[in-house]
Amino acid sequence: MTLGRFLEETRLALESHGVEEASLEADLFLMKALDIDRSRLYSSPDRPVTLEERQTLARDLARRFNGEPWPYISGYREFYGLNLRVNSRVFIPRPETELVVDLALEFARELAGSFPAGRPIRIADVCTGSGAIAIALAVHLPQAAVYATDISTQALETARLNCQDHGVEQRVTILEGDLLSQMQGPFDLVVSNPPYISRGDIPYLAREVRTETLVSLDGGEDGLEVIRSLVPQAISKLSRPGGLIMEISPEQGEEVCSLIRSVVSDGNCTLHKDLAGRQRVVFASLP
Ligand SMILES: C[S@@+](CC[C@H](N)C(=O)[O-])C[C@H]1O[C@@H](n2cnc3c(N)ncnc32)[C@H](O)[C@@H]1O
Repeated sequence: MTLGRFLEETRLALESHGVEEASLEADLFLMKALDIDRSRLYSSPDRPVTLEERQTLARDLARRFNGEPWPYISGYREFYGLNLRVNSRVFIPRPETELVVDLALEFARELAGSFPAGRPIRIADVCTGSGAIAIALAVHLPQAAVYATDISTQALETARLNCQDHGVEQRVTILEGDLLSQMQGPFDLVVSNPPYISRGDIPYLAREVRTETLVSLDGGEDGLEVIRSLVPQAISKLSRPGGLIMEISPEQGEEVCSLIRSVVSDGNCTLHKDLAGRQRVVFASLP
C-alpha cells in the first residue's frame, strides 16, 4: 500500500474513533511511523510503506484508540515554542498556560528594570510538572534564577531532562516537595498552574484527560484545596514589590481574588482571559 492511501485510511480510522482533529493527527502518526517531515509526507504519495512502518503505525494507533493522548505517544509537546518531553507520569502542558508565561515575562521585565546591575530576578514555579513554565521563563529571562518544585518525583525527572534539552539546568533549581515547603525564598515572582479540578468533576472529564495523573488534576472537593494552601505560602515568601500569577478554572476567579485579599490587604488582584475568552489566570501584585 502507498503512503497516500495509508494517510487517508489513518485519517478515516481516527475519525471513526471520534478523534476531533483526525486529519492533523493522521499526518502526525504517519510522520512518526515513517520518520519523515510534513513536506515529504505530501511530496511522495506513491512511496511504499514498509512492513516495519506499518507495525509501528498499528502499535501507535492501538494506543490512541485506547484513549492515550497523542503527546504521550509521540513523547513530546510544544509549549511556548519549546519542544518538551512528556510521558504518562507528567501533565501535558496546555496552550492556555502560555498566558501565565506572557504575564510573568511582562511583570518580570518591568521589575528587573528597577534592579541594580547583576541582581537576578528570583522566580518560583510551584507545581512545575514537565517544567513547562519554569523553562519558558528561564529561556526568555537570561537574568532569572528559577526554582521549580513539584510533589511528584517522576514529574521532576522529566522536568530535569527538559531543562537539559533547553540548556537552562544551571539556572533552574529543581526541588521536590509539597508546594513551597522546600523553598526558602524570598521570591520576586511566584507562578503556578496547580491542580484545580473539583474532585466530583474528574469522572466526567474527557477520556484523554483522565489518562493524566490524578495528582495533577485533583483540586479537592471544590477544586480550590491546593490553591487555598498555595496563596498564603506564596505571599509569605514574596518580596515587595512582588507578584503571584496562577492559572485557575474560569469560575474560580472571584473566590481566588477574595482569598488573596483576605491574606494581603494591600494586594491588587486582576483576572485575565485566555484566547477562548475565559477567565483563566489570576494576577496578584504586592506593592
Ligand atoms: C496541572 S499540573 C501543571 C504542570 C505544569 N505546571 C504545566 O502547566 O504543565 C499540576 C502539577 O502539580 C503537582 N502537584 C499537585 N499537588 C502538589 C503539591 N501539593 N505540591 C507540589 N506539587 C503538586 C502535580 O504533580 C502536577 O505536576
